[in-house]
Amino acid sequence: MPQPDLRRHPIIAGNWKMNKTADEAMDLVEEMIDDLDVVEGATIVLCPPFVALYPLVDLVEQSSIMLGAQNMYYEEAGAYTGEISPVMVADLCDYVILGHSERRQYFGESDADVNKKVKLAFKHSLIPIMCVGETLAQREAGETERVVGSQLRLGLEGVPPHQAREMVIAYEPIWAIGTGHAATPQDANATIGYLRQQLRELYSAVVSGAARILYGGSVTAANVRDLMNQPELDGALVGGASLKPDDFVRICAVTAELKGIR
Ligand code: PGA
Repeated sequence: MPQPDLRRHPIIAGNWKMNKTADEAMDLVEEMIDDLDVVEGATIVLCPPFVALYPLVDLVEQSSIMLGAQNMYYEEAGAYTGEISPVMVADLCDYVILGHSERRQYFGESDADVNKKVKLAFKHSLIPIMCVGETLAQREAGETERVVGSQLRLGLEGVPPHQAREMVIAYEPIWAIGTGHAATPQDANATIGYLRQQLRELYSAVVSGAARILYGGSVTAANVRDLMNQPELDGALVGGASLKPDDFVRICAVTAELKGIR
């Protein structure tokens, strides 16, 4: 009998944050779509601002590129001025970034909010990319594992195993985001290994063996090879470098070369 393929499929997600108008987003994707489309063995997810999602759906339709939102609200519809519901996101995307540290820091998102969003994302067949990460002060105080472990546990509260195994977790140390100072490959690997062990304790070896855990924080075309050479990393969540077509294509190509499943 053939053995089931238990390898994890790598993911590279580009988090554009609050950059690019709809027209600029089209131009950026047009510039890189052909090169991204030939990358085999890894899933590439572009996460532009909400208003750029709709025009991009048509552009990426004939390609292997997937779309993700950067956030969503935890109600399906109603009087929530300015919010975007999971129903709307699911209409256009397959993925959604949840609990990014910028959401937690600047918009007061709590672990309980993130947890509600994770559950609702699954209800609407969206794959959550749930972010966890410690501040510099927490790292220096030796609290990294406690902090990310708690974010993981609270974010997944009540999420059943068949959904938890579909999760994408992004370990993003806050001090590494947008600073040009990525975590060392060894530190990223150690913390991601810790998160995987937590998944095993919370759920099972099946869940911890299936969930994808990405690294994010100043990933560049220059450091991606060293990072992806680490066994625990299943890909990257890329901010600044995802807005530079040549760099992003290279990050995707190197990740697929080292981790890709063909
Ligand atoms: P960065 O951002 O790659 O610009 O550090 C990563 C992120 O915030 O997702």
